[in-house]
Amino acid sequence: MVPKSTDSRPTLVFAIAGSLRAASWNTMLVQRAAALVPETVVFDIFDELGTIPHFNQDTEGDLTPPEVPALRDRIERADAVLVATPEYNSAMPGVLKNALDWASRPPGESVLADKPAAVIGASPGRFGAQRAQAGVRRVLAAIGAEVLEDELPLARAHEAFDEQGAIKDAEIEASLAALVDKLVATARAPVPGEPADLAVYSVECQRLANAT
Ligand code: FNR
Repeated sequence: MVPKSTDSRPTLVFAIAGSLRAASWNTMLVQRAAALVPETVVFDIFDELGTIPHFNQDTEGDLTPPEVPALRDRIERADAVLVATPEYNSAMPGVLKNALDWASRPPGESVLADKPAAVIGASPGRFGAQRAQAGVRRVLAAIGAEVLEDELPLARAHEAFDEQGAIKDAEIEASLAALVDKLVATARAPVPGEPADLAVYSVECQRLANAT
């Protein structure tokens, strides 16, 4: 497990949009989120979703397709995960669920376990993929992620962005920045007994040893 990030290194956010569409509004939303963060935060945007094979329980273990460990490694290295989901028939697209299923396996080795995660979504409709976002939060929680309850529904996505990719509605843009800030703060919050704390503890032990 990756230790909680501290002030000494940037916070790495693995970001994924659940769409294969070249002009995806959700990809634009992820890109906008990445553009809004300070220099202390680095986004790793996953754009290989279309290369992930269908999950098949018969191809786990030694038979796992090579694209899958690459996905898992990138999630594992990240301090937090941001998912932007489209809504297909009131749910997340199958390709996104497929990737989350791979990330959750094998049992007990989910790379999303304890990983701070937030969900956002865009749709040309009136509700901004709210139902899909709720579904993604539910799946992430089932996998063991530390899921923020917040949502960011970008409705009428086809007219929401300006030519530079900014969200025209300043309030929604501020909400997006605030949600990512909260995700980063969650990733940076120290957890007693975890490696970031142990590093401080071992420096303190060394200091005491030197003093005696
Ligand atoms: C949709 N779309 C859609 N939109 C929505 O708000 N609620 C829905 O239930 C659905 N259902 C749905 C089913 C299927 C099969 C498709 C292809 C589309 C429209 C969808 O929001 C739109 O295509 C978005 O543009 C998809 O997101 P990206 O690709 O722009 O990120």
